Amino acid sequence: MTDHTPPPASTSRRGLLSMLAGLGACAATGGSFVFRYLLPKPAVAEPQRMYVGQLSELPVGASRLFRAPSGEGYLLTRTVDGVVAFNETCPHLGCKVHWQRDERQFFCPCHGGAFDAEGRPTAGPPKDEDTPLAELELAVVGDAIYALVPV
Ligand code: FES
Repeated sequence: MTDHTPPPASTSRRGLLSMLAGLGACAATGGSFVFRYLLPKPAVAEPQRMYVGQLSELPVGASRLFRAPSGEGYLLTRTVDGVVAFNETCPHLGCKVHWQRDERQFFCPCHGGAFDAEGRPTAGPPKDEDTPLAELELAVVGDAIYALVPV
């Protein structure tokens, strides 16, 4: 003959509390993993559009420095073909390049590195290593110049 009597109430309550405690522990440890997959990923910072000057105030051959929100400096330079912006940091060992208007080139005084108006290496270690200047994307809207800058 089988015993069909229910377990004592205290045993049933203990079992329920034990099960709830187990669920709570699972939620505490595994819940964060589950939420990582359920919640949307944090957005990666997109480049930011930044006003950097007026085309009419930058004659052909002129160059001036501006800083991105990250602190990096860029040389905004007007060439016969348009306007460009290159990072002022030399890709060789990190010295600062500057624009030489008469030679129409960017020059790095540390080791004699040189770059043409398109940022291509033409002399010194950057030419040997074939490392151009890093360029920023620009947009000209009317007379206004905007750069897509890293933030
Ligand atoms: S750091 Fe510019 S050429 Fe060496």
